[in-house]
Amino acid sequence: MQAIRCVSYGAPSDLKLEEMDDPSPRKGEVVIETEAAGLGYVDALFVAGTYQVKLPLPFIPGSEVAGKVVALGEGAPDALMGKRVMALSPRGALAGKIALPAASCIPVPDRMSAEAAAGFIVSYCTALYGFETCGHLREGETVLVLGAAGGVGMAAIDVAKAMGARVIAAASTGEKRAAAKARGADFTLDYTNPEWRKELEPLTGRRDVDLVYDPVGGDFSEAALRSLAPGGRHLVVGFAAGAIPKIPLNLALLKRCSIVGVDWGGYIRANSADNIPLLKTLTAWIEQGRIDPEPAASFPLAQAPMVLQRLLDRQSLGKPVIRFHS
Ligand SMILES: NC(=O)c1ccc[n+]([C@@H]2O[C@H](COP(=O)([O-])OP(=O)(O)OC[C@H]3O[C@@H](n4cnc5c(N)ncnc54)[C@H](OP(=O)(O)O)[C@@H]3O)[C@@H](O)[C@H]2O)c1
Repeated sequence: MQAIRCVSYGAPSDLKLEEMDDPSPRKGEVVIETEAAGLGYVDALFVAGTYQVKLPLPFIPGSEVAGKVVALGEGAPDALMGKRVMALSPRGALAGKIALPAASCIPVPDRMSAEAAAGFIVSYCTALYGFETCGHLREGETVLVLGAAGGVGMAAIDVAKAMGARVIAAASTGEKRAAAKARGADFTLDYTNPEWRKELEPLTGRRDVDLVYDPVGGDFSEAALRSLAPGGRHLVVGFAAGAIPKIPLNLALLKRCSIVGVDWGGYIRANSADNIPLLKTLTAWIEQGRIDPEPAASFPLAQAPMVLQRLLDRQSLGKPVIRFHS
């Protein structure tokens, strides 16, 4: 099989495309023939060796996969053979085949493509966990999504709209704002403009919002928090801008708002069964056509280093997905 290997931490251009032996399933595992692999900002940090957890070298990057089960290890359920599944793994998705615990396989709904499935679990479960469990989003509320044209941001737009919210998408370029609008955002704004908060009222008739969904951090967070209405919720999702903002705590008091951490990964590590209702809701919404996780574009395996570099360079649009068929 072909695979991308990281042999030393560094730039994505150092990654090697190699021919490797197929994996064999161990007890309780299945082998998935990869049809598509989803990438995120965090995968680029794993390759750079700058994420809070370092993957031991060498490793195959890629933590989200969709494909067909082609081999069963001892004790893996026979019913999984030949099934289309999606799964998470800390590493290994940028390979023609991957061995994973059978228990981590989630069936792919019939109307979902492999590309959509490969980019689905992390960004959509994080969005639903963030809005429903952490943010208590109610129908008719107004949500401001930062970094709205990134992988996590686009899923947040889709999920917030499915929950009946009004969505304002903040992004840095016209192309990104157009992509956010095409994903369903009601309004867009350029949050790199220092005066962006003045745009809220003419757009929405209000000067404030009920929720902020923030996967960006840096200087953007405090300005967004200052735009919250009383009772508002600022959902802390990530720090793609690099800097972790230090927010004056009196703002939470004066605005009577909440700052809520959204660590979906930690939530399901504590109890993986907690993810079942999230997935049930999301797959039902796919069947009903209420959300559409189809990525805007997919790339061949050889272009995975370029895709990871674009994530680091703030040039990526939507959820980047690697496809393993032509
Ligand atoms: N909490 C959780 O459970 C959870 C789950 C998944 C991911 N995350 C986190 O969410 C964040 C976003 O992940 P993602 O995969 O959506 O990344 P992404 O596709 O690269 O999107 C991130 C967005 O952040 C904005 N940004 C601002 N400054 C940036 C900079 N210096 N470099 C790169 N991007 C910058 C960009 O939008 P503009 O150009 O429009 O500013 C970009 O579109 C990451 O920090 C990731 O670790 C958290």
